[in-house]
Amino acid sequence: MKKDLLGIAELSSEEIYLILDTAEAMREIGQRPIKKVPTLRGKTVVNLFFEPSTRTRTSFEIAEKRLSADTLSIAVAASSVLKGETLVDTAMNIEAMSPDMIVVRHAASGACHLLSRICRSRIINAGDGMHEHPTQALLDAFTIREHKKRIDGLKVAIVGDLLHSRVLRSNVLLLTKLGAEVWVSGPRTLVPAGMERFGVRVSTSVEEAVADADVIMMLRIQQERMQGAFIPSLREYFTVFGMTAERVARAKPDAIIMHPGPMNRGVEIASEVADGPYSVILEQVANGVAVRMAVLYLLAGGPEGE
Ligand code: CP
Repeated sequence: MKKDLLGIAELSSEEIYLILDTAEAMREIGQRPIKKVPTLRGKTVVNLFFEPSTRTRTSFEIAEKRLSADTLSIAVAASSVLKGETLVDTAMNIEAMSPDMIVVRHAASGACHLLSRICRSRIINAGDGMHEHPTQALLDAFTIREHKKRIDGLKVAIVGDLLHSRVLRSNVLLLTKLGAEVWVSGPRTLVPAGMERFGVRVSTSVEEAVADADVIMMLRIQQERMQGAFIPSLREYFTVFGMTAERVARAKPDAIIMHPGPMNRGVEIASEVADGPYSVILEQVANGVAVRMAVLYLLAGGPEGE
């Protein structure tokens, strides 16, 4: 593994499979009566989240504690960021206290690459702007492989707000690297220009995208990143692109339904689908802990770091 985990773009297929295989072993730790191993004892991990998070931050914290790291989360709203301190100054001041790893979420695409260049600590990207969210794609791949036993050759339909989604970018990079056939679908206004260059099929017909799919992955409408009118109304969006039971019926009979969360119920996904028998949405959340334990362990040096 390289010094930092900045994105799926920097990972080889072999490194992705190493993380997924390591996560299998890590998951077993979470099933023990005492869910703790001494692997990262003496290591300090700082969670630095400049954007809100429920799943990613909580699962990183749980992963760090299960590996016995000394861990702390900076509450940005109560930090000197509010007095105007920059990302770089904030990071350099944290660096001065000698952490081993810094887990970063930031609204600016490229924030983690910037910190990677100036920090001695290992940087883990927990989502940077509209760029990448690598641990989300890794936990998604882990969940898909658990259900389908492979990723190569699967048809994966990704539907929703493609334009603003770092989850889309990381998943497209990972799934195409591992040989899946990826379809993406959303309103024309929410499809990034040149998507086909990434080796995916683009369709504005959600029915076409999900036809015979093995996996349907829904993406959130990110109203907080929309400055203009990308969709006429949320109701109209649901009518044309919302994942309903009727649309799911076009996929393979054993298709799984995924969503990285947080969900807008009744906007991109109907509650009967989100809570239905094919939904693996809460499994994704559970798998996030094992995958993040694997990332922390491997970045700390794997077996050689123990
Ligand atoms: N999937 C995801 O990143 O969720 P959070 O924003 O709650 O971390």
